[in-house]
This record gives sequence, C-alpha cells and structure tokens, in this order.
Amino acid sequence: MTPPRFFIVGATGFTGREVVRLARERGIDTVAHLRPESKSPWAERFEALGAEIDRTPWEAGAMAATLHERPPSHVFALLGTTKARAREESRATGRDASYESVDFGLTTLLHRALGELRPRFVYLSSAGVPDHEPRNAYLRARYRVERALHEGTVPFTIARPSIITGPDRDDARPGERAGARIIDGALGLVGALGGRKLRDRYRSTSNTQLAAALIRIALDPACEGAVVESEDLREA
Ligand SMILES: NC(=O)c1ccc[n+]([C@@H]2O[C@H](COP(=O)([O-])OP(=O)(O)OC[C@H]3O[C@@H](n4cnc5c(N)ncnc54)[C@H](OP(=O)(O)O)[C@@H]3O)[C@@H](O)[C@H]2O)c1
Repeated sequence: MTPPRFFIVGATGFTGREVVRLARERGIDTVAHLRPESKSPWAERFEALGAEIDRTPWEAGAMAATLHERPPSHVFALLGTTKARAREESRATGRDASYESVDFGLTTLLHRALGELRPRFVYLSSAGVPDHEPRNAYLRARYRVERALHEGTVPFTIARPSIITGPDRDDARPGERAGARIIDGALGLVGALGGRKLRDRYRSTSNTQLAAALIRIALDPACEGAVVESEDLREA
C-alpha cells in the first residue's frame, strides 16, 4: 500500500493546524495549503513540523495543476468563514466572501479540481445539517457541499462536529466559548436525565480531539461514503 499523502485546505484554521500537527506527529507526508497572500505565522510552524507549504491560488486551473502534479491520497477541506469575517473581508477586498462563495464556492472548487483523481475527500461540515435545503446561510452552504459530494464520484467522508472550542483560537470568540459552556452544562443535565444521545450529539469538542478523529476516519476504509456525527468525533 502506498503511504498516505495529505493535502490540507484551511490548514491555518483552528482545526486545520491540529490536523497538520497530528499528521506530522504520525509521520504522514503532509501538504498545508495557505492562501497565496497569507502572512500567517503557521507557515513557519508547519515547516518546522516537516510539512510542505503550498500557496496555490484559489483558481480552478491552478488548483487542478497542483493536485495532479503530486496527487494526494487524502484531501481535507477544513476551511470556512464566519459572519463577522465575511463582512470584514468583503469590505476590505471588494470581493464576495460570504458562506456561499467561501464555504460552498471554494470547497466545491477544490472538489472539482480533482478531475479524475480519486483521493478520499474529507469534508468538515457541521452538526445540524438537515436533509432538506435550509434557509440559514451557514447550514445551507454545508448542505449544498454535502449534496455535491454525494452526487460526485470522488470517495468522501463527511464529519459533522458540534461546537469546536478551546482557549487558543487566533480570534477570541468569547460568544462561542461562553455558548459552549452553557450548552455543555445544559446537556450535562439532559444526559443525567437520560438524554445521552442528545448530549453526545451536541456537546462541544476541542480542535485536538476533532483533528485526531478526522485523521482516524480519513484512514478508515469503513468510513468511505460515511457521514460521521459529532458523537463519533471526540477522540480521547
Ligand atoms: N467553530 C465551530 O464551532 C464549528 C462547528 C462546526 C463546524 N465548523 C466548521 O468547521 C470548519 C473549520 O472551523 P475552524 O473553527 O477550524 O475554522 P477557522 O479557525 O475559522 O479557520 C478557517 C480557515 O478557513 C480559511 N478561510 C477563511 N476564509 C477564507 C477565504 N475567504 N479564502 C480562503 N480561505 C479562507 C482560513 O484561512 P486564513 O487563515 O488564511 O484566514 C482558515 O484556514 C468551518 O467550515 C466551520 O464552519 C465550525
């Protein structure tokens, strides 16, 4: 069996950086994709871990050329914006940086760029994606990516984590951390009253736990074509 080669998009993110670190810790050949203009300090840190840095622009032809030059065995699509970032980025660049154009648009650009390549495409979606098109823009982008994966021919695994939280995000997101504490507290009660399934689906996870789970499900042949819910994404 040929050894795995990971191509990680959204590598500078809270989840992505841990996937890069843990993959390198396991000795996996790892490419961390960064936006060409990114001045992120993670580039140097990834290089120190022995990861390759790739700065292919978000353009279909360029992305296809990069992927075909040294085909990865696994592509991790871990990127996404937030409402506040989308607003700020759209204002600063004059380009649409919405959930639709970033979360849906760039993820499906990456997927299409694979052409006839058949790596495992590991997509970081979200808990709560329904089975019909939702009105909420965040969930709609994820619903539409998931549908594109199901309709495509590239083998995939979809991960649907609940809140990803931890103390060391680049942006503070106090609302997210407070929300996670409140929700986890309430779910603790729900669990104690017998609602274990609900508790396990929606309680928060750390980026490290999630990254370890993403690597496990990526390498597990049984997870090909699977949608893995939050309760199965909390690695010890
Ligand atoms: N946070 C949660 O609680 C949660 C829960 C469930 C699912 N998710 C989903 O999981 C994914 C990862 O979450 P996370 O918290 O790890 O993400 P994060 O820390 O916010 O990182 C986002 C990543 O996306 C990249 N990105 C953002 N806007 C971009 C753009 N316009 N063009 C290119 N790249 C862009 C960022 O690159 P730069 O560093 O260059 O900006 C970064 O690598 C997201 O899709 C998120 O919605 C999140």
